[in-house]
Amino acid sequence: VTQAERLAASAATLDDLAAVQEAWDGIELKKGARNFCFADGNPKARVLILGEAPGDEEDRQGRPFVGRSGQLLDRMFGAIGLSRSAADAERALYITNVLTWRPPGNRDPQPDEMATSLPFVRRHIDLVGPELIVLMGNIACDAGLGRRGILRLRGTWAEAFGRPALPMTHPAYLLRNPPAKREAWADLLSLAARLDGLG
Ligand code: URA
Repeated sequence: VTQAERLAASAATLDDLAAVQEAWDGIELKKGARNFCFADGNPKARVLILGEAPGDEEDRQGRPFVGRSGQLLDRMFGAIGLSRSAADAERALYITNVLTWRPPGNRDPQPDEMATSLPFVRRHIDLVGPELIVLMGNIACDAGLGRRGILRLRGTWAEAFGRPALPMTHPAYLLRNPPAKREAWADLLSLAARLDGLG
């Protein structure tokens, strides 16, 4: 059992988890980051979005998806009636990332950084207990499914962290490739239909 696994398992609540994860010095990225970026939204949400890592604006504010990608993400999910600020669990979103500290220059997370973060991610998801997960982009797919290839994986329901999970293209990708928004819209409709099906 690694130290990260032991610490993550010791957390009985989300507040506990945030506290032990923020205090943990076993990840180099912590030294170069400004703020710990744990999560945003409503922990009662039925849908949890897993992203990659804080960017510049997220590092500044200590909240996930508050930069340009986050604004697009809010519009996308808003279009199917879901929002991180909704108090009602049916309309709510919970948002977190694979990494809680910003990688320098927004480089991809390294395999060792993924490995040490994963026990915290698993515990985080178990404590929230969402019914559905959106794996936002390649890094989240890797964390949840153990493989990359988002342009092939997107739109097909899989199982991640013991729950139904939908890989989607990352909003940062959609900002660079606006025509891909068409597929993202189909994926959002698939999520909305699945949520409807849960009743
Ligand atoms: N991209 C992510 O994957 N997560 C964030 O929080 C911001 C941008």
